[in-house]
Amino acid sequence: MTEPNQTRFNQEAANWDSNPSVVLATELAVESYLPFCSASFDILDLGCGTGLLSLLLAPHVRSITAVDSASGMIDVLTAKLSSSSSHQNVKNVLAVCALLQDPDDARLQIDPLTKATLGSETRARTFDLVVSHLVLHHIPDLAAVFKTIYGLLKPGGKVAVTDFEDFGPEARKFHPESKMDGVERHGIKREDIQKIIEETGFESVTVETAFELPKRVESEPGKGDIESGPTKVFPFLICSGTKP
Ligand SMILES: C[S@@+](CC[C@H](N)C(=O)[O-])C[C@H]1O[C@@H](n2cnc3c(N)ncnc32)[C@H](O)[C@@H]1O
Repeated sequence: MTEPNQTRFNQEAANWDSNPSVVLATELAVESYLPFCSASFDILDLGCGTGLLSLLLAPHVRSITAVDSASGMIDVLTAKLSSSSSHQNVKNVLAVCALLQDPDDARLQIDPLTKATLGSETRARTFDLVVSHLVLHHIPDLAAVFKTIYGLLKPGGKVAVTDFEDFGPEARKFHPESKMDGVERHGIKREDIQKIIEETGFESVTVETAFELPKRVESEPGKGDIESGPTKVFPFLICSGTKP
């Protein structure tokens, strides 16, 4: 995670949920994640932002550890989970501010449901499922992040991640030119991500089209007219694998 990303996401956090394409992308993504969920599962949402995905998945799993490196994003999620919010009944989501690079990170050792902390004599918490939505295109080193995810999972645990596909030069239009800071790549290339996940050690790796997101784009690069610009359809991939 680079400095421009941190600054950008802290600045955008307060208004994140008022971006209609972010909300629609999450609503569409949930359908792709539900088949991976089970009522007994402890899951980790890597790059959870304001918790849009975590809060929709929470009723379908035992617990969610929602992790983001941008404190502004975590502040918004924490406010959503507070007693004065409409999400106050959600008791199985824990918001954690961390740049996740170490699967044994001490900040992950709290059970969101019971709030019990694992002692240092116990081995680190591991998860049944790691999800991550709209994050991979911001990650400089994809092999490193999948290695971290692998370490976070129980044997038999699964990774399932969604992001827009790099389907060619037009994929660049996903972001307006003013928001290219911290964009490491213009979407995910199918063959590249399949290879990275397999080389991490995951089995039964699949990379499939999950849904298509209609999204307004700039009429010309840098024009700054995204709110009135033409609509373009962006394919999203769901990439999954199982830890043996
Ligand atoms: C485009 S936002 C997506 C947020 C959310 N998943 C959503 O769809 O609304 C990407 C998020 O990933 C976070 N992020 C990127 N790399 C991370 C890492 N290694 N650990 C934790 N958070 C990370 C950023 O801070 C940012 O909030």
